[in-house]
Amino acid sequence: MSSSVPSARERSRAVFPGGSLGEYDLPADLAVVLARGEGATVWDSAGRAFTDFPMGWGSVLLGHAHPAIMAAVRRQAGLGSNFAYVTAPALELAEEIVRAVACAERVRFCASGTEATSYAVRLARAYTGRPKILKFEGAYHGANEVGTVSLFPRRLLDFPLGEPTSAGLGPGAEAEVLVAPYNDLRTTIAILEAHRHELAGIIVEPLHRCTSPQPGFLQGLREATAEMDLLLIFDETVTGFRLAYGGAQEYYGVRPDLATLGKALGGGYPIGVVAGRGDIMDLVREDRMGDPRYVWFASSIGGNPVSTAAACATLAELRTPGTYARLFALGERLRSGLRAILSNAAVAAQVQGDGPLAAVVFTDREVVDYRTAHASNRELARAYLLGLFRRGIFLNPMSTKLYLSLAHTDADIERFLDAARATLAEVGRARRSPA
Ligand SMILES: Cc1ncc(COP(=O)(O)O)c(C=O)c1O
Repeated sequence: MSSSVPSARERSRAVFPGGSLGEYDLPADLAVVLARGEGATVWDSAGRAFTDFPMGWGSVLLGHAHPAIMAAVRRQAGLGSNFAYVTAPALELAEEIVRAVACAERVRFCASGTEATSYAVRLARAYTGRPKILKFEGAYHGANEVGTVSLFPRRLLDFPLGEPTSAGLGPGAEAEVLVAPYNDLRTTIAILEAHRHELAGIIVEPLHRCTSPQPGFLQGLREATAEMDLLLIFDETVTGFRLAYGGAQEYYGVRPDLATLGKALGGGYPIGVVAGRGDIMDLVREDRMGDPRYVWFASSIGGNPVSTAAACATLAELRTPGTYARLFALGERLRSGLRAILSNAAVAAQVQGDGPLAAVVFTDREVVDYRTAHASNRELARAYLLGLFRRGIFLNPMSTKLYLSLAHTDADIERFLDAARATLAEVGRARRSPA
């Protein structure tokens, strides 16, 4: 007998495409509505607890409901939530970003990583007067053209041809986004040389998803772009304030011309930042309107005092001595534990990531770029992710990428590893049993 009260899943599917806010594709028995979070734990509306590993796609680096962020937000919310104008927290935050991030001479705020990368690419085009931008295959830079061309390509065309992962992009998207293989400096430089007169620059996730740059790769991009008069944009939406306080540019010792920030900086509140060289950033000055290189950059809620107060509180916590040692120790514990479990279970897999980031690619090949990861066992990945979810690990069943936070404890990591061990044993049994 069917109940007359619709389930949360039925209600979600009625109003949200796919029943989710995006990216979660869960079977009916696992669909939950979250009610609250504290530290690294989230509870669903039925009171079941899960240990959270996406942590708001990495936007909650201090942990859910962190007292310092709550206090800052409460204080600011009582003073007004938005003026679309300079406020003390916005100013304080901009000054701190300029102190912390090597390339940041000036900053402008928006409300998301997607906006930040869109503006950074626009700035690069305006500054150089050239229309094209080079990205690396499989990189995500937000829901815009540069993020979605060749995000998950299937046809694996010859470089630098891109393949849209989304319909509805502008007619120029494929032509304007050139695609290169990450970690392949020789091919990238050949593309730059062939297209330098139409290229504005390169946008790169310095840590490409969870694939580390090979020694010399980022330095090589820096040298080649400087030599050819192209701009280098680091998309630090993920790496900013996460791999080091000064982001990937501090961690890898390479200074780009522009960087984008978001996610962790806002402590879970909406934020996006473009930071970079003063001569490039100044193209957005409103008194330049009418100048052919003037760039329109505006946001009603970008830099709002609640988000920037949350960000100031986040950065103050991140400046506490020992923060990054702790984040890196947690990541190492998770990655090495997972490697041991996968090896004991005789499952061919590569555990990737650095600092508080980790991902598993089910392949026996070394993963250095999108194509080496593409040839992986995705069916096994989904069985692994759903098995973890069933064992109380909250995650995105479409991605093995995990974001650790300062709120995760060693016990949380052990809980994850126990769930991974049990899941892989179950998957192994299912594979061995005759159909
Ligand atoms: C590297 C990178 N850039 C940009 C974005 C887009 O950020 P947002 O979701 O805030 O628009 C993401 C989101 O996952 C990202 O991982």
